[in-house]
Amino acid sequence: MKIVRTARALQTLAGRWRARGERIGFVPTMGALHAGHLSLVRRSRRENQRTVVSIFVNPTQFGPREDLSRYPRPFRRDLALCRAAGVDVVFAPSAVGFYPADFQTWVTVEELSRPLCGPFRPGHFRGVATVVLKLLNAALPHRAYFGEKDFQQLRVVERLVRDLDVPVRIVSCPTVREKDGVALSSRNRYLSDAERRAAPWVRRALRAAAQVLRSRRNAAAAERAARRLLAQGGLRRVPYVSVVNARTLRPWRPGGGPARIAAAVFVGRTRLIDNLRAGSIF
Ligand code: PAJ
Repeated sequence: MKIVRTARALQTLAGRWRARGERIGFVPTMGALHAGHLSLVRRSRRENQRTVVSIFVNPTQFGPREDLSRYPRPFRRDLALCRAAGVDVVFAPSAVGFYPADFQTWVTVEELSRPLCGPFRPGHFRGVATVVLKLLNAALPHRAYFGEKDFQQLRVVERLVRDLDVPVRIVSCPTVREKDGVALSSRNRYLSDAERRAAPWVRRALRAAAQVLRSRRNAAAAERAARRLLAQGGLRRVPYVSVVNARTLRPWRPGGGPARIAAAVFVGRTRLIDNLRAGSIF
């Protein structure tokens, strides 16, 4: 397994593989790898001859009061996991190499960045869209793999690729969960034991909301049901619980197509996000 530090070097490698007709799968990550990330890697390995994983804690997607400095960076462990998973190349650029001091070009996916996490994390999706385009331009993959866990991010990336004619297929992958329903996340390691015991209420709340939505087709009632369950679990700091149109992320209305229920919930001081398909309602 190779470790590549610059976009130029990765482009050269990708060009060589492409010239031989090899398909390249790409899994962008911020490291602190867990079974969720590794499920994306496995899928990429199944569908491509080459798999590239990027490990880069992207500073431009963190707000000034967010956890950039304490975001976990277990780099050697990540490398071992990638090696064991059969990854061909880990791309790990330095922050200054990837964003030189005179960097000034940004990608904004306007409407899809606005709802859900948008108001609470200003600039976040601009940072995500910009880094994802840079990473795609470095890895030059045929397919890129993203988790449904970050549902708004997935929609933003799909739109960016479509709007800017990026020649890559975005492959969405289901959320990997712990046995108790908690979605795997690099941020789960911030949770104390007591907080970890409260975390399953997030998924429970989303399920309750899905059930109410299926039976009553009423988004407000579903959102209320979710908040009730969260409160039952002692989770009262809830930036949002929203039933949205799964494609547009606008508020869902009966007859408006498939729904997605998404939430951001503070468990202690850790902000967790999760989402569920609402089931077969239209
Ligand atoms: P990160 O949070 O490390 O996640 C990398 C990829 O793994 C994302 O596509 C994310 O949706 C997926 N993922 C995370 N947890 C998952 C789970 N439990 N099940 C399935 N997939 C999961 O998302 C980012 O990094 C960054 O924003 C990035 C796209 C790399 C841009 O900086």
